[in-house]
Amino acid sequence: MATQNESEEVRGLEGVIALSSELSSIDGEAGQLVYRGYDIHDLAENASFEEVVYLLWHGDLPTQSQLDALKSDLRTARELPAPVIDILRQAPDSAHPMAVLRTAISALGLYDDEADADSPEANRRKATRLLARTPGIIAAYARLRNGDEPIDPLDEASMAYNFLYMLNGEAPGSAAEATFDTCLVLHADHGLNASTFTSRVIGSTLSDMYSAVSGAIGALKGPLHGGANREVMRMLLDIDQKGADPVEYVQEKLASKERVMGFGHRVYRTMDPRAAILRDRVQELSEERNATKWYDYSMAILNTVKSEKGLDPNVDFFSASTYYMMGLDPDLFTPIFALSRSAGWTAHLLEQWADNRLIRPRAAYVGKTGRTVTPIDAR
Ligand code: CMC
Repeated sequence: MATQNESEEVRGLEGVIALSSELSSIDGEAGQLVYRGYDIHDLAENASFEEVVYLLWHGDLPTQSQLDALKSDLRTARELPAPVIDILRQAPDSAHPMAVLRTAISALGLYDDEADADSPEANRRKATRLLARTPGIIAAYARLRNGDEPIDPLDEASMAYNFLYMLNGEAPGSAAEATFDTCLVLHADHGLNASTFTSRVIGSTLSDMYSAVSGAIGALKGPLHGGANREVMRMLLDIDQKGADPVEYVQEKLASKERVMGFGHRVYRTMDPRAAILRDRVQELSEERNATKWYDYSMAILNTVKSEKGLDPNVDFFSASTYYMMGLDPDLFTPIFALSRSAGWTAHLLEQWADNRLIRPRAAYVGKTGRTVTPIDAR
């Protein structure tokens, strides 16, 4: 059994190797992200989200017939239970979008007869159902809170296409579909990040997939994790609304010891490769539209944070302006992250359960010792 001196704490578990995984690896010095041996640049360029899902779940990229079978399984599984749509309908306007998603995903488990079945086959079917239903939940929520009714997905379209179609009620252009598909590929997995670790901790107790993914959504919601993408866009919009100079705006934040959302990372010591891919995408979109405002603000902020703090952007910095330029509501940015990361969470759960051991670290006790109880009337 591995032991560690109980008085030693590794703050935030930095650098701790908690488990082994074949799913994705990050080289923080080189700024490299790899899913099952494939560099993220290669996948972003040459594979669809569905192919990446297959890769994460099965270990290899699919053949055409394997991909067709996965798409058919996803299509068959995607209808939302009516009571889950009712939950979305009843969500208060004030609810956090990630709280709504977390609740709806948890509720999916109530209407899945296999929720507590623990065979590998049942878990694969649940992974398929979870992933297939998440886009419909987010799109239905977005429409309902705008007073519109949910829209059914189309049969033969990709997940990226169908999400945008269900959201907007019109066919997305091929460029929008491709950009969104790339975003899904980029966010699908990322080592033992906080939400993935959460999902594996829950899974390691032999709890069920809905519990583990709901917990992961709760972790992703936080602004230090996936919630950062919405905060980045709020910052850009605030700069714009105030007519502020982005350099001065960020300098003031740093001077008052505030964090600039979308910068810094626990593992990367250089630019997050996903941020580099999305930076190029934002630049292309800006040039195509002859509207470079968000790109210009972003680059001014990037250069300022780099020169003042030595920090590089992470994926959330450029996903914000990418999504915004696609017309997506900032409230949906983190739910969209969850949609993509569901592929990774479920793959990690399948991996966890294939060789499970309870994840249960220890805390260094720093509280009082040696006390004795005084009877309550004498305290
Ligand atoms: N803005 C300003 N200062 C920062 C930032 C930032 N975004 N990130 C780190 N620092 C500073 C921090 O104040 C500290 O400085 P000092 O040593 O002077 O006190 C130093 O850098 C180290 O920070 P840390 O908090 O110990 O680093 P960490 O590894 O615990 O935190 C992080 C990583 C991602 C939580 C952090 O960089 C951060 O809060 N970033 C902003 C939120 C964000 O963009 N999150 C998305 C993360 S990546 C994608 C995802 O998972 O969604």
